[in-house]
Amino acid sequence: MRPCLVQPVSGMGGRITLPGDKSIAHRAVILSALSSGKTTIDNIPFNNDLSATVTVFRSLGVDIEYPSGKGKGVSVTVKGAGPRGLQKPVRRLSAGESGTTMRLLAGLLCAQDFASRLSAGRQLSGRPMSRVTIPLRLMGAVISGKKKPDGEEYPPLSVRPGYLHGITYRMPVASAQVKSALLLAGLYCRETTKIIEPVMTRDHSERMLKMFGADISTVGRSGRYEVKLRGGRFPSSPGRFAVPGDISSAAFFLTLAVLCPGGRVVAEKVSLNPSRSGVLGVLKRMGAHISVRTSRDRFSRYEPYGDIEARHSILRGTVVRAEEIPSLIDELPILMVAAATAKGVTVFRKVGELRYKETDRIHSMCTNLRLMGGRCEVRERSGRIDIAVEGVKCLSGRKLRSYGDHRTAMSLYVAACCARGESLIDDISCADKSLPGFPEYMRAVSSA
Ligand code: S3P
Repeated sequence: MRPCLVQPVSGMGGRITLPGDKSIAHRAVILSALSSGKTTIDNIPFNNDLSATVTVFRSLGVDIEYPSGKGKGVSVTVKGAGPRGLQKPVRRLSAGESGTTMRLLAGLLCAQDFASRLSAGRQLSGRPMSRVTIPLRLMGAVISGKKKPDGEEYPPLSVRPGYLHGITYRMPVASAQVKSALLLAGLYCRETTKIIEPVMTRDHSERMLKMFGADISTVGRSGRYEVKLRGGRFPSSPGRFAVPGDISSAAFFLTLAVLCPGGRVVAEKVSLNPSRSGVLGVLKRMGAHISVRTSRDRFSRYEPYGDIEARHSILRGTVVRAEEIPSLIDELPILMVAAATAKGVTVFRKVGELRYKETDRIHSMCTNLRLMGGRCEVRERSGRIDIAVEGVKCLSGRKLRSYGDHRTAMSLYVAACCARGESLIDDISCADKSLPGFPEYMRAVSSA
């Protein structure tokens, strides 16, 4: 437990360069490990989740140099083992608290000719896995989780070698982790794997697979979206590339600049992938002054990125539509903070997936915002959950609880910076999951 005292800030300004995007970085390490040849990836975040992925691949016999650099972007060199070169681990594999490691590795391990078992830390052990084991079994995988009385499967996952075949799968839950697991398994199938998403989720796996030369095509953008992957064409290393900054981390700094009188911040070289940047559209719709300058280089063809500038603005409520949710799923907590002091009501539609994150984020955010004097209403109707946040003039500093969730903790930090009176967050150490050194980054651009 690392408690964190937060004083209201009187100003915010400057430029900030953040470590690389966590989602993109996981995929970069995974595909580099599977390709033959050496890959150097710059700006990989040094955080708990990436450490988990690196540790798993080292246990599978992949040679990875991952220099330490708390809260920094580091250059990682992966000597790829090739698609058939992973080795049976001598120790049990652990995904730690990283859901992306767990679910993506599930897809990959199913296709190996050795048995394995993938365990998880305390929080991740309580997160559902049937969403990934069910479609993998449809592909012929021999995988199972720990069945609990609710009928759901949880970590650890046990995997035995199976003969995989391509399938057409219509995703019942919007999940990029599940889609990516199926694509990784699909690499090892003779047939085509086709995935249909009623609402498109982040497409980092598709883009990274294209960059690594896989036979993959996509149709549609937002709304209905289809991916087709022809198995058998394995990744080949593109050599060296850099991961753009994490928009999910940038969102905290951009929102604080918008909320803080006189605030202005530029987040440099941040991912602008349209399937991830929904937060920018919503903030703009709420009246935020946000401008973007895109960069161009060899990598930006695959993953667009650029500088984002945010300035203090007066916000008004909006409706965040169900089809926008996947593009901002991780930014819902910080958008709830923005909504809490905006003029009028902001409605977030169909946000049920928030219940299955590191903690139940509907509960963690509503409980804390209410403590601070915010007004949140959770509307549940026939399995569908909407949240309505009505803006108040000013939040009040309080004793707050992160529930061990990094995005709840960082969102509360921003809320506390804009509140009247000081706040105490019970534990900020969970921020190390995605952005170690978060309070230091914040203090570098804000003044008390
Ligand atoms: C992620 C996908 C999302 C997101 C998570 C990272 C990924 O999860 O919330 O933080 O890297 O694919 P779901 O796939 O469960 O929506």
